[in-house]
Amino acid sequence: MIDPTEIRKSFPIFANNPDLIYFDNAATTQKPDIVVDGICDFYKNDYSNIHRGIYDLAAITTQKYEAVRDKVATFIGAPSRENIVYTSGTTAGINLVAFAFLAPRLQAGDEVLITAMEHHANLIPWQIVCQSKGATLKTIPVNEDGSLRRDSFRSLLNNKTKMLAIVHISNATGYINPIKDMINLAHEFKVPVLVDGAQSVAHYEIDVNALDVDFFVFSGHKVFGPTGIGILYGKSEHLSRMEPLNYGGSIIKDVRFEKTTFLEPPHRFEAGTTNIAGVIGLGYAIDFINQFDKLKIQQYLKYLRNYCISNMQEIKGLRILGSIDDKNENGAIISFLLDKVHPHDVATILGVEKIAVRAGNHCTQPLMDFLELPGTSRASFSIYNTPYEVDQFVRALESIQQFFK
Ligand SMILES: Cc1ncc(COP(=O)(O)O)c(C=O)c1O
Repeated sequence: MIDPTEIRKSFPIFANNPDLIYFDNAATTQKPDIVVDGICDFYKNDYSNIHRGIYDLAAITTQKYEAVRDKVATFIGAPSRENIVYTSGTTAGINLVAFAFLAPRLQAGDEVLITAMEHHANLIPWQIVCQSKGATLKTIPVNEDGSLRRDSFRSLLNNKTKMLAIVHISNATGYINPIKDMINLAHEFKVPVLVDGAQSVAHYEIDVNALDVDFFVFSGHKVFGPTGIGILYGKSEHLSRMEPLNYGGSIIKDVRFEKTTFLEPPHRFEAGTTNIAGVIGLGYAIDFINQFDKLKIQQYLKYLRNYCISNMQEIKGLRILGSIDDKNENGAIISFLLDKVHPHDVATILGVEKIAVRAGNHCTQPLMDFLELPGTSRASFSIYNTPYEVDQFVRALESIQQFFK
């Protein structure tokens, strides 16, 4: 059972900001004590650089840093720690795959397939790689409610397709892509698949092995961890055929003025001093989330979303983007528009009431253009949000609607 009131007690931000209603969890999550204290403790007691020193402290830091790799592998069902690359976040993971995996293999006339709902992070790297190689970036269209046009997907796959990159859960609408079916179909055409799991890892059980996904990326800061740390999972057959993207120390086997040879994955992708404290913090974040059953998390967030939607539906002139059907599974996100009020004004007024929501195009400008929207306001939930907060939020929306009607 998820008890948000109890869970809140682990998050110092709420004790320090008792009036805060934080509904911007799709942008980033708040940090529990175990993560904040864990990082602090690391800097106070164990800190040194990794993979270099031979003194005790360096050995302890290296061991802790590498132990998180095992933890992450287990967390997402990866076959081995060797499949886990530390990055600075989802964006960096996608760039690594686009430039170190795809670019050397892409030729003029090839195609790369994404959906029309992608975050810019899962669009621009592919666009740039395609432009540099004379390849074409194709998009699987969406319906008016932001859901995937599944019928179009099949017809866009062909033997020119060299990569499929799809978001698991849309950060703009909360729509959940049928990633398993999409991976299976793409593989029939021998197309490797990258899944952007930025919005899904915190709430859904991820098993990259069962999904048979080629690459999976996520950010630590959206799973209660620190900023500046993320994960790229890659199948061994792909990682072993990729050259480094960044060059420098920590990734080498042998360096001569004439030639350098590199370590095996994942270390060959982690040049320079990495975000050591970020890795340690991510380890604590995984410990935190592992206390909860992901199915219970989903059930609770579904209840909270449905409760919020049923109250929002009472507000005249309020439109919710995406599925409001209880039967359809959806991420813990409500993207909405209030008649006659710009989404930024909604967010600004809510902000005055200490209610944090995001407004704008949510880094999905092409999706908003297709839907002919200036953007939306977005409330996104986490396990520390309560029905009481939803009541406050809906009451504030009612006041805004009354004021502008
Ligand atoms: C679906 C999705 N993909 C990618 C990103 C980019 O994540 P980051 O900024 O942590 O690299 C985000 C962040 O909002 C996202 O929601």
